[in-house]
Amino acid sequence: MREQLVQLEEQALSELEAAGDLKSLEQFRIKYLGKKGLLTGFMKKLGTLPPQERPEAGRLANSVKQRLTALFQEKRERLATQEESGERFVIDVTLPGRRPLRGHLHPLTQTLLGVCRIFKNMGFQVAKGPDVELDYYNFEALNIPKDHPARDMQDTFYISDNVVLRTHTSPIQIRVMERRRPPVAIIAPGKVYRRDSDVSHTPMFHQVEGLLVDRDVSFSDLKGTLISFVHQMFGPDTGVRFRPSFFPFTEPSAEVDIRCVICDGKGCRTCSQTGWLEILGAGMVDPEVFGFVDYDPEEFSGFAFGMGIERIAMLKFGIDDIQLFYKNDMRFLRQF
Ligand code: DAH
Repeated sequence: MREQLVQLEEQALSELEAAGDLKSLEQFRIKYLGKKGLLTGFMKKLGTLPPQERPEAGRLANSVKQRLTALFQEKRERLATQEESGERFVIDVTLPGRRPLRGHLHPLTQTLLGVCRIFKNMGFQVAKGPDVELDYYNFEALNIPKDHPARDMQDTFYISDNVVLRTHTSPIQIRVMERRRPPVAIIAPGKVYRRDSDVSHTPMFHQVEGLLVDRDVSFSDLKGTLISFVHQMFGPDTGVRFRPSFFPFTEPSAEVDIRCVICDGKGCRTCSQTGWLEILGAGMVDPEVFGFVDYDPEEFSGFAFGMGIERIAMLKFGIDDIQLFYKNDMRFLRQF
């Protein structure tokens, strides 16, 4: 008797739990609590029991009925409000919450800050300059005369005859030297602009410029500084080479290559089978440039360098398409 009742209650409870809408809930009511329902039928049979068992069985059956009725009514109210408000699914407040996205610095910002930190630790100070620059600072004072190919309309965004979007961060060298006397040791990060767009070029990109001027600065100071930078940026075993080159504002000039970080120097597509990757331009400040800022080239010497941050970031992270930096694709950005 007692077991039958317990079993009936268990069965009823699991069906009540499973009822997901008002219709199945009504079916539950009819099946257990209705006039011809199982529990009602059970209670009708109580009279056939021996008299001494009746009170006990009656009490048990009544309490089961009360519990089921209460739970049924509660659920009916809940489902009714939900269906009214058009809410389809029950909200389970015990589920663990979704973690909010925390975000982080863009890979280019990380690289830019990383480069700056390395030079700051060596004693360089950060300097800034305007993106919209006078022709004089962007070209003239850097010993790039009016007929120089770097001024070609194809590369430079002109705002007017003598105002441009800076094509490199080198003009900051001039602005700093105009204001200060040696010793000068600065790095200058910033955006630069050129009319160019393909897998390795965007019309806006980032550079970090470096300048150090003092008495007795030599090319070996430049080499030591840049080799130390490369080892901190790409690892202490990275091969470095200085290749003679030309820039109007440095003499002598060099381009600095590192051992290809993709193939380790064996030769691959990224390094065009040479085993080397160019990462920056550098040189000893040309005496002509000192002339524009009134530094005496007999008294002072200095070195300068400039590097593209997109390129450094691509090599450091193994990215083969520069446009990825500017697409705001979370699948890409999340990886850094
Ligand atoms: N301004 C050069 C460029 O954008 C990079 C550069 C080369 C900067 C040599 C320098 C330097 O300071 O000494 O390609």
